[in-house]
Amino acid sequence: MQAVILVGGEGTRLRPLTYALPKPMVPILGRPFIGWIIERLRRAGVDDVILSCCYLPDVIEAHFGDGSDFGVKLHYVMEDTPLGTAGAIRNAFDLVHGRIFVCNGDILTGLDLTKLRESHEKNNAIATIHTRAVEDPSAFGVVETDTEGRVKRFVEKPKPGETDARDINAGTYVLEREAIEAIPEGKTVSIERETFPLLIDTTHRVFAVSTNDYWIDVGRPETYMQAHRDILDGKFDRPLGVEIRPGVWSADGAVLDCATLQGPAYIGAGAKIARGARIGPYSVVYDDVKIADGATVGNCILWPGCVVEENATVRGAILGLDVVVDAGASVPAGSVIGKGERLVRT
Ligand code: GTP
Repeated sequence: MQAVILVGGEGTRLRPLTYALPKPMVPILGRPFIGWIIERLRRAGVDDVILSCCYLPDVIEAHFGDGSDFGVKLHYVMEDTPLGTAGAIRNAFDLVHGRIFVCNGDILTGLDLTKLRESHEKNNAIATIHTRAVEDPSAFGVVETDTEGRVKRFVEKPKPGETDARDINAGTYVLEREAIEAIPEGKTVSIERETFPLLIDTTHRVFAVSTNDYWIDVGRPETYMQAHRDILDGKFDRPLGVEIRPGVWSADGAVLDCATLQGPAYIGAGAKIARGARIGPYSVVYDDVKIADGATVGNCILWPGCVVEENATVRGAILGLDVVVDAGASVPAGSVIGKGERLVRT
């Protein structure tokens, strides 16, 4: 079976990190983010994946190439201007042979794709939407269904009292080729606001499947950090690399000679951590990071090439590529720092 992954968004909510890397390429514990999606698709029997690109496509192609290192055949479909979540799928139409999965490129989920497809087939659906129940759906697209799971309507960001439904669009679909054909060509089209409502009205064959599998939208700094914590806590697939002691993962298996190292934690390849550094729980230190004597890090994500100098502190922050934290400086919790910045002692 085939899949389309939507990877063209600018990822504005993850700025400034996404000035340097598109959201699908942000690192998560051994893989770029969409590496996790591709691996899940592969395990569900998908062997042909179309990446629907717009923003910084070269970065994606340089890493994934033709997909042969990742067990799938990859195609890249480019947009000159963003075509929206449905327009981007329509743009891939010529490469689609039949029924396909569509995945948003920012959702990490333990959804059983095979079961979603089987449910789609049993219902003779034209489109099947994965949904999940949330307490407060006011910030999401809500999917109202009848008792058989047939979608009655979409309510985007409902106001209090507008709907009793609690199931939100969880960003994975099964689509028939004719559903893609119904999307106008060469136009910016939203799947949630335009395509699904049209298909609901004209075919009555749009269904939803609600599950409570692991699910997170990694598109905000807080959720990007949460996804790291969840994987380190064993709520999703295991990190890539070697578990050098319980809860401590090393990308290259190197054993750390660091006096204070409390897991769970992840250490990238070639990271240099001084013996007198303190690495606290939920530290994620990517490739070639340097942490000096007396420095303290914890509950943070340090992208490749970061340097934390003597007696500096980083807690509760995300540092982008090649950020330097000066000796004795302290990075405020909640900070998200862009590529190459230098944080000085105040
Ligand atoms: P924000 O700017 O932070 O909202 O992120 P985003 O640009 O990724 O937008 P959003 O989270 O709404 O997008 C959901 C998914 O659709 C993501 O995987 C995006 O990459 C993708 N996407 C959104 N718009 C487009 C588009 O116009 N073209 C393509 N190819 N993908 C898109």
